[in-house]
Amino acid sequence: MASRRRFLETIALGIAGSALGARKLVAQLVGSKYRFEMDSGPGPETVINGKKLLYFGGTGYFGFQTHPDLLHAAQKATADFGMGTATSRNVFGTSPLYLDVERTASNFFGSDETIYLPSGYLINIAGFQSLAALRRFDAMFVDEGAHWSVTDFMYALQKPVYTFGHGDAGSLRSKLKENLKPGEKPLVVSDGIFPAFGKIAPIPDYFKLVESYDGCMWIDDCHAIGVLGGNGRGTYEHYSLQSERLYFGGTLSKAVGAHGGIIPGKQEFILPIRTGHIANGANASPSAAAAAAVKGMEMLMAKPDLRQQLWRNARQLKSGLKAMGFDQDDSAVPIAAWTLKTGEDMDRVHADLMNRGIAIQRTHYVGTGANGALRAVVFANHKPEHINRMLSELKMLV
Ligand SMILES: Cc1ncc(COP(=O)(O)O)c(C=O)c1O
Repeated sequence: MASRRRFLETIALGIAGSALGARKLVAQLVGSKYRFEMDSGPGPETVINGKKLLYFGGTGYFGFQTHPDLLHAAQKATADFGMGTATSRNVFGTSPLYLDVERTASNFFGSDETIYLPSGYLINIAGFQSLAALRRFDAMFVDEGAHWSVTDFMYALQKPVYTFGHGDAGSLRSKLKENLKPGEKPLVVSDGIFPAFGKIAPIPDYFKLVESYDGCMWIDDCHAIGVLGGNGRGTYEHYSLQSERLYFGGTLSKAVGAHGGIIPGKQEFILPIRTGHIANGANASPSAAAAAAVKGMEMLMAKPDLRQQLWRNARQLKSGLKAMGFDQDDSAVPIAAWTLKTGEDMDRVHADLMNRGIAIQRTHYVGTGANGALRAVVFANHKPEHINRMLSELKMLV
């Protein structure tokens, strides 16, 4: 048992990023047991460990994961095409479902093309590989708080990698100045929305620097797709940015309610990905996920009022937290996180809320530091009274 614990601690240290977080993760994993099991689809009310709770976790921003139209599309696709094609896209493995995802996504983003990949986690390495193949950069400059799907892969390109201060354009400016040799071009990399605290990266500030060095910018926009911008196109639309130097990808597993990663772009950028290792060495997502993704994107395009509802809910959550004295920004991002004095305080509040039938997250996710944070996420289908109830119960505990 002791050696299993040590083994798990080594792994968990990598995952949690801090000794305390690692110990907590191990405490949950010893005996191969997760502390919580989700016994229903995610939504404002979710069954966890057999109990129906008012739920403020995860990333099902529009509740599409349980929407009857997505479920129906998924069932039909499974009946018609089986679970998947069991071969890679460039042999026999491109079903009409995958092409439909790519067509619908291109429509959604107004892009020339889109590639559908097996997960959101893989979009970053796929994007980096294409930009390297096109010789678009000589060195990478990565936000030190970037998601693991960026940092796991940033050294794989065998180009110099420099990190800059989290969300800090001044730090990026210094790092570019210190490290780029004359004529070298940077690739600047950041999440669009950082998942832990829901902060939006100052992309326009980075972009001015990128332009001055004739470089390019990559955004992991997994949390912003469907959520930010008038059409839900993500961070670049939120900032009204459009440029040949700007590249991004996202996931279909959060706002869109399905599964898989997408990268929209011009043909010359997408081609190296379409013909590259990931698209050809990994099976595509299950048929059910592809059909559900098409439905999810169609619904997001047809019902922009859902996004307005999500933004209203986000503002209700944040203004309630601000009224309790927690520092929150005014953005429409539906994620809020905050900390209490000690980790034990946060454990207690989290447990007390669970006992009162409310699930928020006690998180040690990227960027939450040694003690972690409390985190709540709202969905478009939370009712104002759901959010008020959570806030008023929280108020009694902090
Ligand atoms: C910023 C970011 N990038 C990538 C991913 C991976 O996406 P997926 O879970 O769809 O593979 C996540 C998932 O939580 C994420 O938060």
